[in-house]
Amino acid sequence: MKMASSAPSSSLLLLLLLLIVLLAAAATASSPNRNGYVHLRFYNHERILGSGPNATVVYSVHRTSSSSVSGFGNVYVYDNLLRAGVETDSPIIGRNQGMGVGSSMAENSGLTNFQLVFTAGEYNGSSLALQGLFPVAPLGTLFERAITGGTGKFRLARGYLLTSEVHATNTTLTGQLDAYISFR
Ligand SMILES: *[C@@H]1O[C@H](CO)[C@@H](O)[C@H](O)[C@H]1NC(C)=O
Ligand SMILES: *[C@@H]1O[C@H](CO)[C@@H](O)[C@H](O)[C@H]1NC(C)=O
Ligand SMILES: *[C@@H]1O[C@H](CO)[C@@H](O)[C@H](O)[C@H]1NC(C)=O
Repeated sequence: MKMASSAPSSSLLLLLLLLIVLLAAAATASSPNRNGYVHLRFYNHERILGSGPNATVVYSVHRTSSSSVSGFGNVYVYDNLLRAGVETDSPIIGRNQGMGVGSSMAENSGLTNFQLVFTAGEYNGSSLALQGLFPVAPLGTLFERAITGGTGKFRLARGYLLTSEVHATNTTLTGQLDAYISFR
């Protein structure tokens, strides 16, 4: 009797252990995690508006002279580098090309519409389409924008992008980008 009742519980324990090991393995894998999302991390390297001839962000409409990039009615265009790391010499993996609009009368946020175009690695030639608000907020503030589609290996992609600016100088701004992509 004792043997019969303890056998199922020890095999249950073994099954649980196996499940934990499998879940741990799934969590560290780079392609689809257990929620069905592919997680990619990279860094946006921007030379800020007004930082001189090599700025990667420029005004296309400068309606208000507000010093904020979210000046109401302003429109700007950017072409930033995507690198694998925060370091300015880490490998280039693509470009972040798009536009921003000062869409908030309070000038505390802007609307961005952009494309992440990959030029190296597993996703070379593919791109993600995104849109969403960015807040005017202190360095390190986490904000979210929507992944609305993609091309190449990202066809029919949906998901979300988490961004936080992690490093700033008087001419540069570097953001950590975490993309969570689903194909369901
Ligand atoms: C702009 O880029 C060019 C070419 O890389 C470089 O020679 C020049 O020093 C840069 N200028 C500034 C102000 O960073
Ligand atoms: C990316 O793809 C293009 C076009 O196929 C190719 O010319 C280029 O060498 C690739 N770049 C890298 C870094 O693999
Ligand atoms: C930016 O910072 C550098 C030192 O890191 C300094 O030499 C330069 O004058 C600063 N430029 C402006 C416009 O403040």
